[in-house]
Amino acid sequence: MRAVYYERKGPAPRVLVLGELPDPQPGPGEVRVKLHFSGINPTDTKLRGGWDGSMEMPFPRVIPHQDGAGVIDAVGPGVPRSRIGERVWIYEAQRGRAFGTAAGFVAIPSENAVTLPESASFETGACLGIAGMTAHRCLFQDGGIQGQAVLVAGGAGAVGHAAIQLAKWGGARVATTVSRPSSTARRRTPPQGSGSSRGGWASTAWWKSPSRRTSSSTARC
Ligand SMILES: NC(=O)c1ccc[n+]([C@@H]2O[C@H](COP(=O)([O-])OP(=O)(O)OC[C@H]3O[C@@H](n4cnc5c(N)ncnc54)[C@H](OP(=O)(O)O)[C@@H]3O)[C@@H](O)[C@H]2O)c1
Repeated sequence: MRAVYYERKGPAPRVLVLGELPDPQPGPGEVRVKLHFSGINPTDTKLRGGWDGSMEMPFPRVIPHQDGAGVIDAVGPGVPRSRIGERVWIYEAQRGRAFGTAAGFVAIPSENAVTLPESASFETGACLGIAGMTAHRCLFQDGGIQGQAVLVAGGAGAVGHAAIQLAKWGGARVATTVSRPSSTARRRTPPQGSGSSRGGWASTAWWKSPSRRTSSSTARC
């Protein structure tokens, strides 16, 4: 299979290699996914760059990327063969493991490959992983949010984008902050499949920000 990998940490242009590697075989409890899209998470680039202060390789060779989406094409012992052909989104493929999703195939524990409905594209599936799970955890770790008011800080970002949709799905009233007019416009447009039929993706206020940004706006969703 074609794969992107690195054998030493450092800046991407210096350490990333595109090459041919053997196709992975699924072990017990694992599925193999033929990848359609690989999702890049900030942790992928931070770990490759030595952000945690360690330039030691956790494995001799690493294929990066935790998230992705594709179709299961093989299963290991203990996994029902009925999973073969299933469209899936993938999370934490490279957590504690050497090989992630920047490749033609990935072999991962069956539970890390989650059914992706026909209505969701592979691109969407590849963006659901860590960012979507972070948003879900922030919203629902203490239970349901039906009828509650939720403020999503940074609604134009990866986590914020997912949080807005999940909060609406959970029945909350949602307000968000964005830093630029272009981001406000993006938040005014209900994302595909968000189920948001009402208007109200509108900028409601501007205020001075003490941070590096000069101003922010909120959008009621
Ligand atoms: N991505 C993950 O998987 C993940 C996982 C765990 C935790 N986190 C944390 O979650 C937070 C968001 O991460 P992300 O990946 O979603 O980042 P991101 O995609 O870069 O989005 C960050 C958002 O914050 C907005 N923002 C920044 N400064 C602002 C300010 N002063 N006022 C208003 N908006 C501001 C930006 O708005 P504009 O686009 O309008 O400039 C941007 O949309 C970070 O703290 C990150 O460490 C992320």
